[in-house]
Amino acid sequence: MAVKTITLLGSTGSIGVNTLRVIADHPDRFRVVALVAGSNGQQLIEQARRFRPEVVAIHQETQAEQVRSALAGSGCLVLSGTTGVMEAAAWATAQLVVSAIVGAAGLQPTLAAIRAGKHIALANKECLVMAGPLFMAEVTRQGVGVIPVDSEHSAIFQVLCNGRCGAEQGGVLALHGQDVGQLVLTASGGPFRGWSRAALQRVTPAMALSHPSWQMGKKISIDSATLMNKGLEVIEAFYLFGVGGEQIQVVIHPESIVHSMVAYRDGSVLAQLGVPDMRTPIAVALAWPERITTTVPTLNLAQLGELRFFDKPEERDFPCLELAYRALRQGGAATTVLNAANEVAVAAFLAEKIGFLDIPCLVEWCLDQHQRETSGPAGMGSLEDILQTDRATRRQAEAWLLRH
Ligand SMILES: NC(=O)c1ccc[n+]([C@@H]2O[C@H](COP(=O)([O-])OP(=O)(O)OC[C@H]3O[C@@H](n4cnc5c(N)ncnc54)[C@H](OP(=O)(O)O)[C@@H]3O)[C@@H](O)[C@H]2O)c1
Repeated sequence: MAVKTITLLGSTGSIGVNTLRVIADHPDRFRVVALVAGSNGQQLIEQARRFRPEVVAIHQETQAEQVRSALAGSGCLVLSGTTGVMEAAAWATAQLVVSAIVGAAGLQPTLAAIRAGKHIALANKECLVMAGPLFMAEVTRQGVGVIPVDSEHSAIFQVLCNGRCGAEQGGVLALHGQDVGQLVLTASGGPFRGWSRAALQRVTPAMALSHPSWQMGKKISIDSATLMNKGLEVIEAFYLFGVGGEQIQVVIHPESIVHSMVAYRDGSVLAQLGVPDMRTPIAVALAWPERITTTVPTLNLAQLGELRFFDKPEERDFPCLELAYRALRQGGAATTVLNAANEVAVAAFLAEKIGFLDIPCLVEWCLDQHQRETSGPAGMGSLEDILQTDRATRRQAEAWLLRH
């Protein structure tokens, strides 16, 4: 069996650590050649000692010296800063790059990997929300495969790929034919499902960080609590699978066992099920088109007893999901604006500068501003245009924060 060589962007995060757990169980199948982290030098050093990559990169320059001296003499090259991260992302010996940096910071390293001809295991949904058309055009140009890591998109991918789609041949992920009616994304509903607006007003960062089904990084935990995560996933599905926004439905499923479904026009609905543990979609993405063993417990439906499904909640209580649909309809660079405004809002909420319900207010205000300032959906433009929109939105959002 040939060994697959892996670069891991965001190795010190929740997805990164789970990816290394899967890889550690299969030393005969996978070899880590590059690890990339943001600021956690100590954890990166420990990972490098254990997995012996050819190169590591740390974004924060102040951490670089510590990593360099700890790994001196190990044969591992240590890079740092933005250029170091980009160099490691395009590392020549890697076949597959796991994109698991959080937020907009993941876009350029992932594009660098695609441009270097690497297949992508995609966890960083923000790069599609920010730059979907450009990202997918680059994927097509390079002829690389994109295998989703997000559990919902992995579920849809697995259903669609049931003998039909070409990512396993290194082609571009694509939805085939007219026979798909709807993609149904499931959502746990987050920790505040059923809460009144008055109760939501009092939500603190600590409350929002404790998710009922998944252990995740801080940003995605807050996004799950506001349902913006589901909104970002709708946009991710729109670009990954090439369906219309109106074909992507969200249904609340508190048990997080059915990870998503595809409703075909003949009346069949196919779903993928499993215990909620990110090691399953990670294992799928790493090994595709093969399947490997994980230590994730097998689903026992009889023990579980029941699976419940509900309509998505009222827009007035959880406006973020509808804001994401609106950004898709608005077109142009509106999803870039949505992403940047949301990142600023989530950081401000975590720093206790704004309340939970201020997050959608700030995002909506930025989308309104953008709509007023642009004449229509002219497309997102070049990478420089996208980065410019991202920067301008962050400035506007920071100015909003100063006024509130
Ligand atoms: N967690 C999940 O279960 C889950 C599920 C589906 C999708 N996702 C998606 O996967 C991505 C990662 O989520 P997460 O929960 O793993 O986040 P996380 O725990 O916060 O980890 C983020 C990772 O990104 C690194 N990073 C941040 N800024 C960086 C930069 N400028 N350059 C290089 N590395 C940087 C961090 O490094 P340091 O820690 O060293 O600073 C860390 O390794 C997100 O896009 C999220 O939406 C996550």
